[in-house]
Amino acid sequence: MLRMLGITKSYGAVRANRGIDLVVPPRTILGLLGENGSGKTTLMNVLFGLVSPDAGTIVFNDHPLAGHTPREALAAGIGMIHQHFMLVPAMTVTENVMLGWDAAGRWLRPAAVAERIRAASHTYGLDLEPDARVGALPLGGQQRVEIVKAILRGAELLILDEPTSSLSPPEVSGLLHVLRRLRDEGRSVIFISHKLGEVLDVCDEVVVLRDGAVAGRTRASDTDRAKLARMMVDRDVSAPVAREGGAAGAERLVVADLAANDATGVERLGGVSFSVRSGEVLAVAGVDGNGQAELVDVIAGLRRPTRGHVFVDGADVTGRGVTGRRQAGLAHVPADRHTTGLVADMTVTENLAFRDCDGPPFRRGPWLDFGAMRAAASERIARFAIRVGGPDVPARTLSGGNQQKLVLARELTRHPRVLVAAQPTRGLDPGATRFVIDEVLALRASGGAVLYVSTELEEALIVADRIAVMYRGRFAGVVRRDAVDITRLGLMMSGALTESPDAAALYGRKAP
Ligand SMILES: Nc1ncnc2c1ncn2[C@@H]1O[C@H](COP(=O)(O)OP(=O)(O)OP(=O)(O)O)[C@@H](O)[C@H]1O
Ligand SMILES: [Mg+2]
Repeated sequence: MLRMLGITKSYGAVRANRGIDLVVPPRTILGLLGENGSGKTTLMNVLFGLVSPDAGTIVFNDHPLAGHTPREALAAGIGMIHQHFMLVPAMTVTENVMLGWDAAGRWLRPAAVAERIRAASHTYGLDLEPDARVGALPLGGQQRVEIVKAILRGAELLILDEPTSSLSPPEVSGLLHVLRRLRDEGRSVIFISHKLGEVLDVCDEVVVLRDGAVAGRTRASDTDRAKLARMMVDRDVSAPVAREGGAAGAERLVVADLAANDATGVERLGGVSFSVRSGEVLAVAGVDGNGQAELVDVIAGLRRPTRGHVFVDGADVTGRGVTGRRQAGLAHVPADRHTTGLVADMTVTENLAFRDCDGPPFRRGPWLDFGAMRAAASERIARFAIRVGGPDVPARTLSGGNQQKLVLARELTRHPRVLVAAQPTRGLDPGATRFVIDEVLALRASGGAVLYVSTELEEALIVADRIAVMYRGRFAGVVRRDAVDITRLGLMMSGALTESPDAAALYGRKAP
């Protein structure tokens, strides 16, 4: 069905794709794996006509594709679902599907399009209602609108670049189910993900990229997580995690009856109280959208609470702005690196330094020390293994996972007293995920207090001393590490179980 041969693409000194051959047979779900910056998105952008390669040929269904635009890729039968959906929230599913679709505008009436949406929804198990407003759909639903859009435009090959990174576990299994139906109806899918379990579960074949070249290809049934991990990196990332030191000391972060509304005035955080002690990690688990984002924003100073207080090392910082809280020792990894984590057009050096320009080592008297900034940037690029041409390129040119590493490098290297991290490993490859976990535990061992918000329960179980589960803006329960019961946590996440935590669970316990 698809044959890409010798695809090569460089950005200055960065060789993003080095002679990649990729063949996708019909009726196949092909997994595309590789470390952050290994060239996956670049290859897909070449295929979809968003980027023109320096060399290489593409043949799709016996038709050569060269110098093509995304519109021509679509016309040839290739669809791409972007990570940031291109939908209009105020419009219905039908209206979104018709938007920019020439054939629909000229030949089809809304009722006919709605009928086709219903039919496709039935065939592929998309569970879409044509008259529903897109803005009211959960993330997984919006993604299915993008899928139906691509299908009705005739896509025979669908490209999904990290489609599961923001979905809840039930939404992920729903998506994998849809992908299998697409394959069984004769279409092919290219599926990019860092989650090896998902890849093994849904893919027929797997291609692994390393450093812009193909490192291997295998049938999913002939491999396992360990083998795939070894194909991606040539070092071992599965060594057991060391949880040393970190006996719970004094309260560093105290949150008292904190409540907040969303932009439309609806209460999203309903009065939460807890503390995190020195040498402790409190993980906040739960399905995305249950108030975790609001909790993190209010603690970081990005959103005003409707009531309640935040204390850092005993000081009430509720009235302070972002800078005041940083000076009190708070570091913050936001969930959305695009809006609050990075300034895309600033260089890597500037992004690493700009929050710390109010004193030494980057400011000396009235002057900024650019030499010191660049030296610090180079050191952090090396330590966090950020794949980048150099410290002076704009942050927007980094791969998704490397942008996330940039935010982490800035926040973790300030030796914060309190770290509030939201989805810190989203988009990271297994090696980088492991590195972040090790760094968080090192901070814990040296007396830091960490609030670790994650939808990945597996990760929460590794890092946490206590796990709080959020449901509808409140803690459905807080469980101490020695009393973890996965079934109970699952019930709490779905709202089927609420336990009033005792003081020891909410506020931790001092070391004896
Ligand atoms: N527009 C650009 N300008 C400069 N360099 C770029 C550009 N786009 C990509 N690169 C570089 O090409 C390399 C490959 O990036 P790509 O986005 O393809 O990686 P990826 O495999 O998708 O990684 P991730 O898992 O982090 O999404 C990276 O080193 C990146 O910095
Ligand atoms: Mg990518």
